[in-house]
Amino acid sequence: MTQALYRKYRPKQWDTVIGQDHVIQTLTNSIKADRVGHAYLFAGPRGTGKTTVARLLAKAVNCLNENPSLRPDNTCEHCKAVNENRYMDLIEIDAASNNGVDDVRDLRDKINFSPTQGKYKVYIVDEVHMMSGGAFNALLKTLEEPPPHAIFVLATTEIHKIPATVLSRCQRHEFRRVPIDEIVKNLKEIAATENIQADEEALTLIARQSAGGMRDAQSLLDQLSSTGTKITLALAQQVLGTATSQTVLDVIASVLDHQPAHGLETIHHALDSGADPRSLARQLVDYLRGLMLIQMGNAEQVEATRDVKTQMESHAKSFTTSDVLRMMKIFNNAATDLRGGWQPSLSLELALAEVIDAPVEVAQVTATPQPKPKPVSAPAAESKPEVKGEAQPVVESPAINSNDIVKAWKPLINALPKAQANLGALMNSVKMIDVQGKTLILGMASDVLVEKLNKPDQIETIQRLIKDHFHVDLSVRCVVTNAKGKLPTHVSQDGMVAAAIQHGGEIVDMDE
Ligand SMILES: Nc1ncnc2c1ncn2[C@@H]1O[C@H](COP(=O)(O)OP(=O)(O)OP(=O)(O)O)[C@@H](O)[C@H]1O
Ligand SMILES: [Mg+2]
Ligand SMILES: [Zn+2]
Repeated sequence: MTQALYRKYRPKQWDTVIGQDHVIQTLTNSIKADRVGHAYLFAGPRGTGKTTVARLLAKAVNCLNENPSLRPDNTCEHCKAVNENRYMDLIEIDAASNNGVDDVRDLRDKINFSPTQGKYKVYIVDEVHMMSGGAFNALLKTLEEPPPHAIFVLATTEIHKIPATVLSRCQRHEFRRVPIDEIVKNLKEIAATENIQADEEALTLIARQSAGGMRDAQSLLDQLSSTGTKITLALAQQVLGTATSQTVLDVIASVLDHQPAHGLETIHHALDSGADPRSLARQLVDYLRGLMLIQMGNAEQVEATRDVKTQMESHAKSFTTSDVLRMMKIFNNAATDLRGGWQPSLSLELALAEVIDAPVEVAQVTATPQPKPKPVSAPAAESKPEVKGEAQPVVESPAINSNDIVKAWKPLINALPKAQANLGALMNSVKMIDVQGKTLILGMASDVLVEKLNKPDQIETIQRLIKDHFHVDLSVRCVVTNAKGKLPTHVSQDGMVAAAIQHGGEIVDMDE
């Protein structure tokens, strides 16, 4: 397996860290002046460079270069060892994992020994807010009087969970979300180096969706490039589930042409072929929001393929802004209304009627038929999957063998109606499938994708597909499988990581 892009492009030098100049400035000044602190707290959103900068600091304080302003030089023995993950005096502890407690205990025992190679032992404690009572107290003790050869870098995404006792002992640095244009620039550079063909507008969409997290942006680029085709806006939209569907365009056209019957027909057709009324309502709201942006002169903020955008521009001219606002409100209410509704399509139909301002004949509105169950092949009764190794207790035996789901996955995706191409694309992006007890675990390559997939209507659709096909009720849980080369804490704590791997789940990137 080739190295993940976000690992390959981890900055090795201060000046390649993007968007955190305020942090870098202070740190490099203290390196030059040979006045490094003993306890740092790096706070900020995921994937913005905390661990990266902590490692740079570890390299810099131990770099053998005689000129402090050239540290780290990436050429001396120590720098090379850090870059190759084999530097003894850089100790990374993940407070979120079960090992965190032991690691800190261990740390307390060993802290007084001098560094083996360099001048400083650097401890990076990740997700420090997750640390449990005992470990935490141990850490506090060491922070009170750190030996002169120790440097602590505590990292957290949730600064508000850090107690004042810790805050007061640390030099604090806040990491910011990386601005979109900086992310786009970085993605462009990576694409050029890696020979990845990508349209700028697609990279912009990726950057937007990543909400300032550089790792997410890089791993989305990675994932999209793995399709082997040029990364166009349309492709990116499909994978990210942000495409405007033909249904939306047709519904809006029916409003414009005052054709309630056609509008209703369009909606019914979409729902009959499996579209979810809530997400359809939301898509309508999104589209209308786009029209509003265009009307207000912010067309560049609208992400759409050229065709859709042309269509939008003409729609934007045909409606007044107050029309658009009114429609947004109505469809938005429908989207909310639909949540507990007894008749899922009704709110949408009423909304359309209200928008078109024509009476709707509710009596004739037939209940939306549930999509028919696909022909079912009963799952072969499989023996319980073997679980090798004794490290992790496995809680429940699975209701169904995950291999069966892995095998059925592509056909299930292919059986999705066209209207659910977005869901199909997302399901195609699933990197790991496992079943634990009655839970289907789906691993995605990034937070963004997990968030995209983890929508109630889509989860329901997947549950229904599984139920129709295998006759089992599974709940669905979406997790990130490779954002740090490991599964997130809430998963690892109950022993699912090991189980997921043992069951043949493909973990994309576990080399850290
Ligand atoms: N500011 C940045 N400049 C350049 N690349 C970055 C930056 N932040 C993150 N990256 C990219 O994302 C990857 C992950 O970053 P890093 O591990 O430093 O994030 P983090 O803030 O520690 O995230 P987490 O909170 O999840 O631990 C890096 O290897 C690098 O490729
Ligand atoms: Mg980190
Ligand atoms: Zn060096």
